[in-house]
Amino acid sequence: MDINQRRKQFWPKKKWKKAVLVTLIALMVVDVPTFAFFEYSVYNETVSPIEVKNSTGTKNALVIYHPGLTGFSHDIAYTFADRLACNGWRVELTTASSKAPSNITQYDLLVFDWPIYDLSPGPTITNYIQRIGDLQGKDTVIVTVGGGINPLNAQDTMKQIIIDANGVVKEAVTIFRGGNFTSKADQAASQIFP
Ligand SMILES: Cc1cc2nc3c(=O)[nH]c(=O)nc-3n(C[C@H](O)[C@H](O)[C@H](O)COP(=O)(O)O)c2cc1C
Repeated sequence: MDINQRRKQFWPKKKWKKAVLVTLIALMVVDVPTFAFFEYSVYNETVSPIEVKNSTGTKNALVIYHPGLTGFSHDIAYTFADRLACNGWRVELTTASSKAPSNITQYDLLVFDWPIYDLSPGPTITNYIQRIGDLQGKDTVIVTVGGGINPLNAQDTMKQIIIDANGVVKEAVTIFRGGNFTSKADQAASQIFP
């Protein structure tokens, strides 16, 4: 069978079948790369330098965040860190990656800011916690961010991950898109003092 005969067999004769086939091909061409791009962003670790805020603070806090595709999670992490610094903490802030501090002995407070992805905690954060292994009974704040779809309660899943890693959940806050989200982050951090 030559290539033209094969093409004829593949390509339907009826108009409506052609339309369905063209639509399916178009959807695949658009959807598959889009889906791949989003999933890549979910698992992709971003390495960033450690920023220090209020270097003379009395106790040490470590804020680890997954930046995501937009500035949402980043802005929440920075607002949270700024408020902790105003409250007297010395704050180190960086993204969840293999370059983030793995020795947590010097910190008195850990803050994990992560987007819900596919109904679950962000993998770069859970991988980071796995790398640390033992949270040494440290006070831990969970900042869950997301688009607003949370039927499996991703925050509870994260709480359990922290507890299983020997951390103590001091506070857990959820911030969904919409409204003045930075003021919510600011408010959540405002009661946490060294
Ligand atoms: C692949 C993917 C899956 C997502 N799954 C959820 C989800 O299950 N629940 C939810 O509330 N938000 C979900 N979101 C939205 C993100 O949690 C939300 O946009 C968050 O702010 C992440 O920031 P970003 O959009 O800057 O990546 C998802 C986003 C992406 C890209």
